[in-house]
Amino acid sequence: MSVWQRLSFHHDRTRDRRILDLFDDPKRAEGFSARLGDMLFDYSKTNIDLAGRDLLLALAEDAGVAARREAMFAGEPINETEGRAVLHTVLRNLDASVVVDGTDVMPEVRDTHARMVAFCKDVRSGAYTGQGGRITDVVNIGIGGSDLGPAMAAIALSPYADGPRVHFVSNVDGAQIAETLAPLDPTTTLVIVASKTFTTIETMTNAETARAWMKSAVDLPAMQFAAVSTSAERTAAFGITPERVFGFADWVGGRYSMWGPIGLSLMLSVGPENFDAFLAGGAAMDAHFRTAPLSQNIPVMLALVGIWHHQICGHATRAVLPYDQRLSRLPAYLQQLEMESNGKRVAMDGATLERTAGPVVWGEPGTNGQHAFYQLIHQGQQVVPCEFLLAAQGHEPDLVRQHQLLVANCLAQSEALLRGRSLEEATARMADQGLSGAELDRQARHRVFPGNRPSTTLIYPKLTPFVLGQIIALYEHRVFVEGAILGINSYDQWGVELGKELATALGPVVTGEVSAEGKDGSTRALVEFVRAHA
Ligand code: F6P
Repeated sequence: MSVWQRLSFHHDRTRDRRILDLFDDPKRAEGFSARLGDMLFDYSKTNIDLAGRDLLLALAEDAGVAARREAMFAGEPINETEGRAVLHTVLRNLDASVVVDGTDVMPEVRDTHARMVAFCKDVRSGAYTGQGGRITDVVNIGIGGSDLGPAMAAIALSPYADGPRVHFVSNVDGAQIAETLAPLDPTTTLVIVASKTFTTIETMTNAETARAWMKSAVDLPAMQFAAVSTSAERTAAFGITPERVFGFADWVGGRYSMWGPIGLSLMLSVGPENFDAFLAGGAAMDAHFRTAPLSQNIPVMLALVGIWHHQICGHATRAVLPYDQRLSRLPAYLQQLEMESNGKRVAMDGATLERTAGPVVWGEPGTNGQHAFYQLIHQGQQVVPCEFLLAAQGHEPDLVRQHQLLVANCLAQSEALLRGRSLEEATARMADQGLSGAELDRQARHRVFPGNRPSTTLIYPKLTPFVLGQIIALYEHRVFVEGAILGINSYDQWGVELGKELATALGPVVTGEVSAEGKDGSTRALVEFVRAHA
């Protein structure tokens, strides 16, 4: 019998038991958690027991996760469909030594990092200016991996922001760039065009718009543009001087790229030292991932908990619930990281997968979500495994009481999900309020919480640059482990191609240059509506 089958039987045998009963073991919380320094990952409020964990660990062993992990760090071409290495980890570990296709990749990585630091120092000190004076604002134009990482981190690290204000434009919807640029002074704004390929239609369109905006106010718009890309030819063709082009190699996947030049806007905002602390946090998680025994390894256990909930228990989604307002964009960031990486249907060899590869990832910060969708999480019929994130301390020394309330709410939610409230308890409460008979029965039923709903909590002292680096690297490695166990390539994204191709073909149809003939009836009708109302 395969380990997958044994896990499935184990789940059948244990599915109806109460997770709360597992806490009869006084060491449950300690035994079902993993640590890295001050960071604690608690997965004791799940229905995973010792036997279940052993089986999950066997999945990781059987899939050769450890060997594959070392292949990744060594620069082997584990992105097999694109024939590329997967080496974003070297961007945060500048002392690494990695050779790809006979070339030591590190001198260029170090050189680019040093050039980023020098440029950021110049911008932040005022040595590099716009045509109207010191740079006050930076606009990062990019989308997907060229936007979500730095945009998420700029909010997360706002207490450390002491450089120019940073803004992010991603959508091809002109509303975003129009609203972003409107209050800015083009003469003191730096525009960063961030695109791995430098061909992405949204980014190139927004870059043209920004250039026209800049041109209306300064003589030399190109002087206030920088670029981040793997294509030196295309950045040159756009007119950006090589001095302000920060390159990276194709072995850095877009959604894994915030550690290098794609993080330029973040470095400008928080400064090179804080950016380097972010890198150090990522490197610390890498070292933990490579050396901690699998059962004590946070990324491995986070991945195995994910596999238990999605592939074994069949829960279709997972909610990421940061009790940390500054992680408000983390769910969106993780949607790309996890769903673009593991939202696949075939294995590395092209065979159809036997089980669905990845859940739908969604979420919002607490406590806001509590007043929105938690109703379904507590009483809806589908189970949503919840991943809470929580800092022991906030950044607002005058608002300690508010942070305590935030902490209490986070802990209360995982406790409520675990315990629930039985019909007897609900009935007793309503009886205390004076209800009786059929009305008591009816009202009590609405107040029952099934409980026994799984959650994990990742808790850390404070959301510093170092801790943010740990968190992001943790999730990257979680994706890696899940992908390795499922036998898929987490590093390509062919699923985004068809929509791009059709959008290119539909462009002239929308403008009326080309007929909608040959399109399906719905698309023709929608095009007709747009043409009539545009
Ligand atoms: O959506 C597909 C994708 O290729 C992502 O993987 C990537 O992060 C994004 O587009 C942006 O690509 P680029 O950085 O090349 O503009």
